[in-house]
Amino acid sequence: MESLTMSPVEIPLGLKELLHGYTAEVLRLKPADLVEFAVDHFTRIQEGQRKEPNAKEGSVRTSRSRVSFRTHSDEGVKDEKDSVVGEHHLKHTIKYKRRASVCAEAYDPDEEDDDSDPRVVHPKSDVQRRRLQDACSDILLFKTLDQEQLSEVLDAMFEVLVKAQEHIIDQGEDGDNFYVIERGVFDIYVQKDGGSVCVGKYDGKGSFGELALMYNTPRAATIIASQDGALWGLDRATFHRLIVKNNAKKRRLYEAFIECVPLLTSLEISERMKIVDILGARVFHDEERIITQGEDADCFYIVESGEVKIMIKSRTTAGQLDHAGVELARCVRGQYFGELALVTNQPRAASVYAVGVTKCLVIDIQAFERLLGPCKEIMKRNISQYEDQLVALFGSSVDLKQEQTPSVK
Ligand code: CMP
Ligand code: CMP
Repeated sequence: MESLTMSPVEIPLGLKELLHGYTAEVLRLKPADLVEFAVDHFTRIQEGQRKEPNAKEGSVRTSRSRVSFRTHSDEGVKDEKDSVVGEHHLKHTIKYKRRASVCAEAYDPDEEDDDSDPRVVHPKSDVQRRRLQDACSDILLFKTLDQEQLSEVLDAMFEVLVKAQEHIIDQGEDGDNFYVIERGVFDIYVQKDGGSVCVGKYDGKGSFGELALMYNTPRAATIIASQDGALWGLDRATFHRLIVKNNAKKRRLYEAFIECVPLLTSLEISERMKIVDILGARVFHDEERIITQGEDADCFYIVESGEVKIMIKSRTTAGQLDHAGVELARCVRGQYFGELALVTNQPRAASVYAVGVTKCLVIDIQAFERLLGPCKEIMKRNISQYEDQLVALFGSSVDLKQEQTPSVK
């Protein structure tokens, strides 16, 4: 009997990746019409290849970014995102394919298999490393990383020197890097009613550019340097591999707690999860000062464990500060403090100290503005109570929006 022999079938290079990418997007976005979605999906890939003619068949990544680093030996390459990296003067050309934007709720950090990406290392001198460590010491997104993850992040960061008026990020674009500020002032603009409105600024510290990388969405704001400055960039792939994956752990850790913070109950679950994604955790020891009366404010706190006491120093009629101070209140698990200065745009109205070892969740002012808007009515009601309390204590009417250090009559 004649035996049936199958001729070996050659699978075209890239077919598996293409089909896998399409399937992953379908599972993620659950489109109603699979054919229409396929047309749209593959058209986007084709457009990406046209924009990036060197993209080889078989190297298509549909929902992943690609980062390429070039050295000085690459000739004729000029890219706006080129930057000088320490003494090695590496040039970075960072290119991405356009991605379909998805909403925060649908984004699953475990979906993308970043583990295969090589570890990125930008060599740094000791001095650079110290400057970088200083700049990163208060970055909330790094606060929940373990030591090994943090040192991987620091290895991957590269220095970016910026000139006044330079656009670091443009709203609507795809996200390439996350940035930590070393020095300089950076204005934040958001498109509103057809115009660009300045909604805030970063003054010499902080970080920006996490949203597009976390949620795979277009840039949500434009960031412009208002003077010469220096930033440290972290590429998208490393940000995903370390920070976004760590967010899954953060959600597991803080989800239940955040659900029962009374202030946040009016928010949707997805909004509460966005708060978890960006918050940092800080532990304070007994009597440590968390907030200093009269200082400028840049963050807001929720007590996770332990206790804090709120102390106010009043002024005597002679204008002297009463240094002993008066205890106004205590906050325990689930309660918040440090909102007043952010809501009123005034210096801190009181000092806050840890009572015993206390752990607080910290949210920076930009995230506070962006995410806690719906809770401001509740905060304002509580601010009226502070005013009543100060009247009871100091015996005169106090408007916290006007006056920070009530006078003793
Ligand atoms: P991303 O959307 O990646 O890029 C612009 C960044 O601006 C954004 O991440 C935030 O880090 C930062 N930002 C600061 N304030 C705002 C705001 N009000 N709305 C949106 N983004 C903001
Ligand atoms: P903020 O002014 O940012 O920093 C000090 C915090 O103390 C303040 O926000 C409030 O959260 C908190 N606080 C509690 N009670 C009072 C009070 N009676 N007056 C002012 N601040 C108070």
